[in-house]
Amino acid sequence: MINLKKSFEDALEFVNNKTCFVRCDLNLPYIDGKFSDYTRLDKAIPTIKEILLRNGKIILISHFGRPDGKFNEILSLKPIVPLLEKRLGKIIKFCDEDIKNSDKLKKKINKLDSGNVLLLENIRFYKEEEQNDINFSRNLSSLADIYINESFSCSHRNHSSITGISTFLPSFPGKLFQFELQNLNKVVREMQKENSIAVLGGSKVSTKMKIIENLAKKFNKILIGGAMANTFLASQGINIGKSFCESRMLEKTNLIYKENKDKIILPIDCIISKSENDESSSAVNNGNIKDDEYIFDIGPKTRKIFYNEILKHEKLLWNGPLGYFERKPFDNGTNYVSSIVNKHKSDRFFSIAGGGDTISALKNSGNIDNFSFISTGGGAFLEYIEGKSLPGIEILNN
Ligand code: 3PG
Repeated sequence: MINLKKSFEDALEFVNNKTCFVRCDLNLPYIDGKFSDYTRLDKAIPTIKEILLRNGKIILISHFGRPDGKFNEILSLKPIVPLLEKRLGKIIKFCDEDIKNSDKLKKKINKLDSGNVLLLENIRFYKEEEQNDINFSRNLSSLADIYINESFSCSHRNHSSITGISTFLPSFPGKLFQFELQNLNKVVREMQKENSIAVLGGSKVSTKMKIIENLAKKFNKILIGGAMANTFLASQGINIGKSFCESRMLEKTNLIYKENKDKIILPIDCIISKSENDESSSAVNNGNIKDDEYIFDIGPKTRKIFYNEILKHEKLLWNGPLGYFERKPFDNGTNYVSSIVNKHKSDRFFSIAGGGDTISALKNSGNIDNFSFISTGGGAFLEYIEGKSLPGIEILNN
């Protein structure tokens, strides 16, 4: 757990007529060529507005997806411009020129009046970003006066726009960043072995192995759904048909399951279909899935088991959807289990959820407003809860 030494209010003292880098997380969930949720953008708006009100000049930095250091039109941040314009009620400039050519960028920044915003193209189009290249960070930082991190959700990344630039400029947390940390500190303080339960979903178990291992030390139970449960089931020799599975993770998944059998609860039944567009889905028990079928959701028996388990606990941590919620009726598992937040009887019940897809899935369920706190972070949220030190937080205290 960490407390910040500086605040957003401290930053506001400096911003008048200054050029401020504001690192946001505009990595919005994107499905079938469309943004499916704007929470991360919406939650950054108050910070942007306050800086503009104080006559600051903002250069917005963000990544979108994982373009591997190369330009990729699909991952351009240009479509964010009208979304920002609508929310801020002003014209937003966009810089798609090479930011490594600092003279060109300087000219653009010089033309920007105080109280205005310039959005940079996806920072991950530059390989130097993820390499945290010192020259890249130094050159960028020479173009601004202060740096504000408004992307708590990226603070587990030791990247140039999270830690690199921050080493060269006076750096501060954003308003949302502060708020997230305050709430997560409350969770870290209150999570106890006997009364805490975690729900983990989403597709890739490879990104969550360490987190499962660590949560198993602190939490009483871990309920696993979503496509990541497929890999667990396959590791136990259960036929999962044509369902998504990370074969390279089978051995590790088997090991982690064996070591934590008393904690990890896997689905016992599921909703299967021949394709995602086939409306004739049905519920089957593990063991009855055919070779040409896909698992798209947890089944009704599993939903009840998960629901009743949560009912026995007072602290709930949720990350990831339990099924392919983007396609109805495969959102039913997530909808049913998350409805527990409306029904839990204990006054001490505290529920927290985080992650881009998690927010979309819980919004879709209609249960999101009854969670005690929703974090914009996915990986950052889980790592912080796990007790890891996040480079983007540490650097702000240096
Ligand atoms: C997230 O979606 O959790 C953040 O935007 C970080 O993205 P990343 O996992 O690609 O670094």
